[in-house]
Amino acid sequence: MKTIILYYSNHHGNTKKLVDAIAAADPENVELLDVTKAGPRNLSEYDRIGVASGIYAGSFGKPMLNYMKDNLPPGKNVFILYSSAMNMDNQSSSARKAIEEKNCWVIGQYHCPGYNTFGPFKIVGGTAKGHPTQKDLDEAVKFYKSL
Ligand SMILES: Cc1cc2nc3c(=O)[nH]c(=O)nc-3n(C[C@H](O)[C@H](O)[C@H](O)COP(=O)(O)O)c2cc1C
Repeated sequence: MKTIILYYSNHHGNTKKLVDAIAAADPENVELLDVTKAGPRNLSEYDRIGVASGIYAGSFGKPMLNYMKDNLPPGKNVFILYSSAMNMDNQSSSARKAIEEKNCWVIGQYHCPGYNTFGPFKIVGGTAKGHPTQKDLDEAVKFYKSL
């Protein structure tokens, strides 16, 4: 199934590790698109679209949300991937809203912890050290294959 994963990963490249693992597991079908480098694209040729981001102040990155607003075609199956300092599964509301505004469907979500050194956390050496781990990456691939 022809798949493109849009990603935004500017803190430690944690989310990029997730999308790289998925692309490596299914290289014939998965294309990756860094939204900070991509221009406008017609994505209607893809069977499904992934949106992947770190969480910044409780939200998907603004460049990702803007890219979705401008380029997500209506009526697509979309899956959500994110990494965050706190291992919570309710930090995707900004992405869900952007998906729903395009009359697309959320077909699944995967999240895992991601190494974080934002603000005061840097002083204590960061949180979620070592994440995403190999297990986190394996689980991401498992999630993708289950879609
Ligand atoms: C400016 C900033 C704000 C963040 N805010 C949150 C947050 O609200 N909740 C959370 O769980 N993690 C937060 N984090 C941690 C990141 O979501 C986490 O490190 C993530 O894995 C970063 O992904 P990336 O390396 O792909 O950018 C924040 C990190 C930064 C730099």
